[in-house]
Amino acid sequence: MKASLLVESLTGNTWRAAELIGSHLQQEGWEITGLSRVRRPDLASVQAADIVLIGTWTHGLFFVGQSPWAAGDIANMPVMRGKKAACFLTYALEAGKSLDRLSTAVGQTGAEVVGGLQIKRNHLEHHSEVFADRLIGAMSQH
Ligand SMILES: Cc1cc2nc3c(=O)[nH]c(=O)nc-3n(C[C@H](O)[C@H](O)[C@H](O)COP(=O)(O)O)c2cc1C
Repeated sequence: MKASLLVESLTGNTWRAAELIGSHLQQEGWEITGLSRVRRPDLASVQAADIVLIGTWTHGLFFVGQSPWAAGDIANMPVMRGKKAACFLTYALEAGKSLDRLSTAVGQTGAEVVGGLQIKRNHLEHHSEVFADRLIGAMSQH
């Protein structure tokens, strides 16, 4: 399987999660075609991928009003139509409905969303591994 990672990150947690997910997938024999920013996407890496993994972070007032950062940019990502996609969302305390909103935004690109997971920022390593393992499981059914 070939995966491209697209990430939005302010303080580095989501970028780190993407690196962890990518290295875990590589250990399982996947190829990573690229890791780039949602706002400066490596379109060739998206086109070359079987699945696109989109990560961003939770923005809100911590217990209310949470949403995925850059949802509008994500929803308007080009070259996603017909691709499979999965999303991940880092957060500190409470992400509210952000993961659902992120899945909706990814779906608006025309991609087929096969899954998504919240990654708590103080459990980056463990939750990134869970995401990668679930993804491998989901894709082995296709
Ligand atoms: C302005 C701002 C608002 C945030 N709001 C929330 C929030 O409502 N709920 C939450 O769980 N985390 C919130 N966080 C925490 C971030 O979602 C969390 O630290 C995330 O991992 C940051 O990702 P990054 O390091 O890739 O930028 C907020 C962070 C910032 C900077």
